[in-house]
Amino acid sequence: MTWTPIGNKSAMRFEPGHAVRVQDRWIAVFRQQGADGAEHLLAIDNACPHASAPLCDGAVLEGKVVCSLHLWQFDLRTGACDVGTQWNVRTYPVRVRGDEVEIDLVP
Ligand code: FES
Repeated sequence: MTWTPIGNKSAMRFEPGHAVRVQDRWIAVFRQQGADGAEHLLAIDNACPHASAPLCDGAVLEGKVVCSLHLWQFDLRTGACDVGTQWNVRTYPVRVRGDEVEIDLVP
């Protein structure tokens, strides 16, 4: 894996997602509580594949972000779209080291 720093967690504004520009793409980072009770960060492409609305602005319901424009839903862990697999978004592994958040951009 190739980890790329994307910022300090304490400086991220989760509303509900935090958008960050990384190289040539926009990524949306979300917080989610895992089954272990711990908080995890999840990262997906920020642009909705339907009409490019920023997914970082979407509400999160049961592990899915709901696009604010036409309400399509995307699983934050898998990127799966509820409308069809051709609309799935890419997800990225995330790790937090101290306060620094890193993602792996390499597929
Ligand atoms: S732009 Fe996201 S569902 Fe239409």
